[in-house]
Amino acid sequence: MAVVGDIVGPVAIERVAHGGHCVGRWEGVVHFVRHALPGEQVMVKVTEVAKRYVRSDVVEVVQASPERVTPRCSVAGLCGGCDWQHAEPAYTRELKRQVIAEQLRHLGGYTWEGAVEEVEPAPFHWRTRMRYAATADGRPGLKAHRSNRVVPLPPEGCVAAVPAIANPGRLAGETIAVAPGKGRPVLVGAEQQVLVEEVAAGRYWRVSSNGFWQSHPQAADTLVQAVLEGLEPRADEVAFDLYCGVGLFAGPLVDAGCQVWGIESDAEAVRLAGINVSEGAEFLAASVARGLDFLPRDADLVVLDPPRVGAGARVVASVVARQPRRIAYVACDPAALGRDLGYLAEEYQVLGVRAFDLFPLTHHVECVAIFERR
Ligand SMILES: C[S@@+](CC[C@H](N)C(=O)[O-])C[C@H]1O[C@@H](n2cnc3c(N)ncnc32)[C@H](O)[C@@H]1O
Repeated sequence: MAVVGDIVGPVAIERVAHGGHCVGRWEGVVHFVRHALPGEQVMVKVTEVAKRYVRSDVVEVVQASPERVTPRCSVAGLCGGCDWQHAEPAYTRELKRQVIAEQLRHLGGYTWEGAVEEVEPAPFHWRTRMRYAATADGRPGLKAHRSNRVVPLPPEGCVAAVPAIANPGRLAGETIAVAPGKGRPVLVGAEQQVLVEEVAAGRYWRVSSNGFWQSHPQAADTLVQAVLEGLEPRADEVAFDLYCGVGLFAGPLVDAGCQVWGIESDAEAVRLAGINVSEGAEFLAASVARGLDFLPRDADLVVLDPPRVGAGARVVASVVARQPRRIAYVACDPAALGRDLGYLAEEYQVLGVRAFDLFPLTHHVECVAIFERR
């Protein structure tokens, strides 16, 4: 068996896997390979050796996929940002489709036949939030994958970031750059926090520079529209916005006439949610698992927008106990959606799953699943 640092291959790449890796084999050993594409033969550097598989990274493409392209950025694959800049953008959406379909089938027993929808701007200059690092001599850079090593930005800046924050100039340390929907771009030390103003769903939103807001400039509107279309809220319904951040789904649900309760663990986000959606909603600073005990026993509609780990069995059970008419599940990890879909399946049927390419040049993808009580 190879050891970390060995160069081995050629590895025959078979298919894409969850997490942006491609699965291949070399001398009978399974490799999870970064920066490869299905059908390729690649030489790889071993980065981790586990009991039954190896993680590795491409160092040379022996036989390239017809979908491989030359990345526009000279540090693509070196910085921790764009892990799929080496593939045709349309093909990356096809790979994301395959991953979603596999995760929903394998973990949730659900057959998905949809496509991943492109969202403009794409594929370059879409990120409105960046976390830059500084080199020892103050040049701006980005941290390498799972590392504190700083990879300096090329002279033209970051091709994923919107132009206003693509080249931040000299930096003193880790710095958050935000190009908000309203007002001027902001550069602020990662430990500090300033408020920025975003615009979405016909409202203004105050957000902390280091709090959660979707990175793609069209993400908030795209997700709100998909959630509202799926839920079809009616006046006077009771709705929960779980993992609510600064209240992104609570606001439009109030506008549709619902009485809304939101739960979020970040106390500052909850404070801002109370300002952003000052009427028709109440917000609780708590983990969703604990906070649900303090919400009404009945709900008509529920939005779940958990972090990558998903909501989990306990939260799903607590939601299902309310017997909501419909549930919208917004997922940044199709595996978590697949698992939670499995927990919901007995009492809820899937009305539809839409997938949006809100993270072009990367393996990440956002899904919105709509469930209806059986
Ligand atoms: C994907 S973000 C969604 C935020 C918001 N719905 C939006 O779209 O802007 C997930 C949010 O869940 C919060 N969070 C993470 N774990 C949580 C937990 N166990 N309970 C409550 N909130 C949590 C995070 O602080 C973050 O704001």
